[in-house]
Amino acid sequence: MTAYMAGLGLSMIGVDLSPKMTELAQHSSPALPFAVGSMTAMGFGDGALGGILAWYSTHHTPPEWLPTVFAEFHRTLAPGGHLLLGGYVGDEHRRPAQAYGHPVSYASYFLPLDRIAELLGRAGLVVTARLEQIPEPPVKRPHAYLLARKPESP
Ligand SMILES: C[S@@+](CC[C@H](N)C(=O)[O-])C[C@H]1O[C@@H](n2cnc3c(N)ncnc32)[C@H](O)[C@@H]1O
Repeated sequence: MTAYMAGLGLSMIGVDLSPKMTELAQHSSPALPFAVGSMTAMGFGDGALGGILAWYSTHHTPPEWLPTVFAEFHRTLAPGGHLLLGGYVGDEHRRPAQAYGHPVSYASYFLPLDRIAELLGRAGLVVTARLEQIPEPPVKRPHAYLLARKPESP
């Protein structure tokens, strides 16, 4: 996604908690900047970012940490800056032992889209658009996307 957005002409930096994911991204896009970091404390200054793309990552955050993550998005976005958040929604927690044909160890916390939008609002971000896949067979886990904006003035 970092490479795709950079290809559209945006100035990008890719951040991921996993050193291995960061290394793989860096290997596939050597000219772009990547950093190991957490959405809970991204290391950017106040208002430093024109936009944030949180892509299929916040559903791996334990729900009690989402207010911290969304406060960090609000802090680091410039006034008028945009957040595009994408991921799975639902109402369950999963901790698979096997995925993609490999043994794995990770957790997913699927929340209703309304709950995510509410938490973004509490962090001071204004939700401007939302798209949610209808959860009917064969869709097991709906995808959803939210666009939010940091107001120009507090
Ligand atoms: C499904 S992958 C998506 C990776 C990438 N964003 C993409 O769209 O291809 C989920 C990623 O979220 C990362 N992640 C989970 N919690 C994170 C956090 N607190 N801060 C930064 N990245 C996190 C994981 O390391 C993992 O690489």
